[in-house]
Formats: sequence, structure tokens, C-alpha cells
Amino acid sequence: MRKLILAAASAAALALTGFSAGPASAADSPIVIKFSHVVASDTPKGKAADKFKELAEKYTNGKVKVEIYPNSTLYKDKEELEALQLGAVQMLAPSNSKFGPIGIKEFEVFDLPYILPDLKTLRKVTDGPLGARLLKLLDSKGMTGLAYWDNGFKQMSANKKLLEPADYKGLKFRIQSSKVLEAQFRTLGAIPQVMAFSDVYQALQTGVVDGQENTWSNIYTQKMHEVQKYMTTTNHGYIGYVVVVKTGKTEILSLTPEQDEAMRKAMMPVYKDVASRVGQPLIDEFLKETGRSPMN
Ligand code: SIN
Repeated sequence: MRKLILAAASAAALALTGFSAGPASAADSPIVIKFSHVVASDTPKGKAADKFKELAEKYTNGKVKVEIYPNSTLYKDKEELEALQLGAVQMLAPSNSKFGPIGIKEFEVFDLPYILPDLKTLRKVTDGPLGARLLKLLDSKGMTGLAYWDNGFKQMSANKKLLEPADYKGLKFRIQSSKVLEAQFRTLGAIPQVMAFSDVYQALQTGVVDGQENTWSNIYTQKMHEVQKYMTTTNHGYIGYVVVVKTGKTEILSLTPEQDEAMRKAMMPVYKDVASRVGQPLIDEFLKETGRSPMN
């Protein structure tokens, strides 16, 4: 976890290169990471973002300062991805369904109805090679995908009881910007309408749309229950997030174990060369104290 937080903080910090104040103050002032999101603080994403702030600031001894902007206070869904690409914010965690409009449609696979039986199965995908391959797709848009975060499974709501597929016919449903979600509601005979998350409550209240799908935490924290008479537990789909930062100009390379060993071997002569200057007994004592062998 500590490694992940530090990696995330340094990736975001690298993305900030060129944004810091002048050279004199740059060394002293903390690196600021603006983290924008669209949900309430008291939700899985809101809490994860707050935890990230706590740990990133702690592990970097305050050198990194994370500013969290929840509830679309800075940007709505589509705007926040554009803001990241422009460098106006440094970190986001959009839902998988929101990457289509910037040209990455593959994350919409997570929107397929009933594709994930439970979170354990989801982990198999996100923590494995498939999850890594999907994150890599973000590179082409100048973004780096750092991690997957969960929300949970979606439920349906409307002002009429939704118990049979036929109950959806002709109703207008708010959807996230995903063609898979559009197909899902069209298949049920409903009329999907793409809308920013922050506009859903009002759209339900004024009848612009008749219903919506979301996770319990998003429904509750947006008070959708105030403007929807019926909620149906369907668990038909999943909402999760991809934590993204803008890719810096510097490419971070990882060494293979063979390359790592070659680097270590190449630098071993330094120990012999400086033994008389630093003192062999001191080097030995140092190695004993740290329990390290420079070769591993
Ligand atoms: C989110 O959880 O980030 C918002 C999901 C939505 O737009 O419905």
C-alpha cells in the first residue's frame, strides 16, 4: 500500500513538472495534487480519495499536498477528463463507463450486464494481465492508469415498480456516457439519456428522466430516494473506477531482473575503488547494520 501511494504521488508529481513556481520557491513549496471527483465524500470513491490524501501527505512528509474536490465542485464528468489532459487537475478516478467519449471504449466491457458475479471475480480481471492491458490503453491519451477502485453493484429506480423486463418499456433512463449502457436500456425497450452525475437528482425531480441505475452509495448520497418511489435490487451491473494521472514527459522505465543484476554488477567495482577512502571496516559495518548485500 505504501509503495502504491508513493508511486501514485510521484507519478502525479511528475505530471506537475513545469507547473511549479519559479526555481527559488520550487524546492520549498509542496507539490500540489488536485484530485477532482463527482461523488460525495461519504462514498467508496470519496473515502478512498481522502485516504490517499492522508497517506500521500504522511509518506512524503508533507512534500506532496493533495487537494480533494468532491461532488463535481470543480468539474463534471466529461469536463474532468479534459481538465486532466489540460493539466488543470492532476488526479481523477472516473468510472469505467466514462472513458468512451475520450476515445477509449474498451473500459465499457465492465458495463456489460451480469458480466461480474461478485467482487472476487472482478479482482481476477483487474489484478491480472487483462486489467494491466486495459490500463495501458490510457497511454495513448497521455494518461497513466494507476489502479482500479471499487464502488459496487448497480440497482434500478423509477417512479413505477420495475419487476419485469416489460416494466422498462418506454421509460427514460439517465445513463453514464457508455454505449454499452445505451444498448442495455435500448434492449429493455427504454430510452437512455446520457447525463452528468451531478444533474441526475434534478432530472429525476423534474421528470426529465423517469429512472436511473446506480450503486446504493451513489443513490443515497445524492438523495435520489427523495425523488424516486421505487428501487429494485437487481445487481445487474458494476461501477468501479480507474485512478488516472496525466502522463509526464518523462517515461518511467522498469528494469527486468536481468537488467537489474547487470546494473548491480557494473557498479560493484565502486566498493573496491573507494575502500581506502571510506574505509573497508566502515563499509562492512554499514552492510551488517543494513543487512544488505548490494547484489540483491
Ligand atoms: C461515480 O460513481 O463516479 C459516478 C457514477 C455515475 O455517473 O453514475
